[in-house]
Amino acid sequence: MNGDALALVNPRHPLAEEGRPHLAAPDARFPRVLMERRAAARLRACIARVGGQGQIVPVSGFRSRAEQQAIWESTLAAEGEAFTRRYVALPGCSEHQTGLAIDLALAAEHIDFVRPHFPTQGVCGAFRRAAPRFGFILRYPPHKQAITSIAHEPWHFRYVGAPHALFMQERGLCLEEYLELVHAHPWGTPPLRLDTPAGAYQVGYLPGDAPAPPPEEGWHMQPDNCGGRVLIRRHERRRAV
Ligand code: DAL
Ligand code: ZN
Repeated sequence: MNGDALALVNPRHPLAEEGRPHLAAPDARFPRVLMERRAAARLRACIARVGGQGQIVPVSGFRSRAEQQAIWESTLAAEGEAFTRRYVALPGCSEHQTGLAIDLALAAEHIDFVRPHFPTQGVCGAFRRAAPRFGFILRYPPHKQAITSIAHEPWHFRYVGAPHALFMQERGLCLEEYLELVHAHPWGTPPLRLDTPAGAYQVGYLPGDAPAPPPEEGWHMQPDNCGGRVLIRRHERRRAV
């Protein structure tokens, strides 16, 4: 499990500090587009699975806060405030700053940096269908703007890990909605069950500074940037006696 893969980053949950993830390029042809190492490897694998090498282009991955600020300011100058608020996260509130987000485009001579063209058909459609198995969600789906604060972005994918991604896709939940559901399953109460094509899992939540479960219970802990930690373990695992 990737440590920070469930971090929620939005205007209500800004990043507390500048992140320093281990970075790697998902596609060696675009060495300046970087992602957190595990997310980069899973993206590379997903693109390879659908035969998308050379057709699916990584446009924007990890950004520092200063880069996000520059994108915000240049978009504001070029497109105005309403457009910018729909499509660009405020500096400090962009999940690109975690290295877990990637904007993708279909290869073309001209690629729009803020709103790349990533269609629903062809190899891009195949990528969309495969993405949850590789741990990626479409982070800003249609009809969720009131929750995510960002308009539909068909090009922006976020790595959360396969069990969570498959469950969210099946239930039609965005990350905010999924974490709200997880928060309703604090450790010590019956866990949330994820029955996914990637296996069965149990998910629970440790709010605030609640003590961690004993290590022999086999839970992985993932901070959610909401002040707590998401717990996850494979369901087949037996409780220690
Ligand atoms: N385009 C997304 C919302 C970002 O700027 O992080
Ligand atoms: Zn993006």
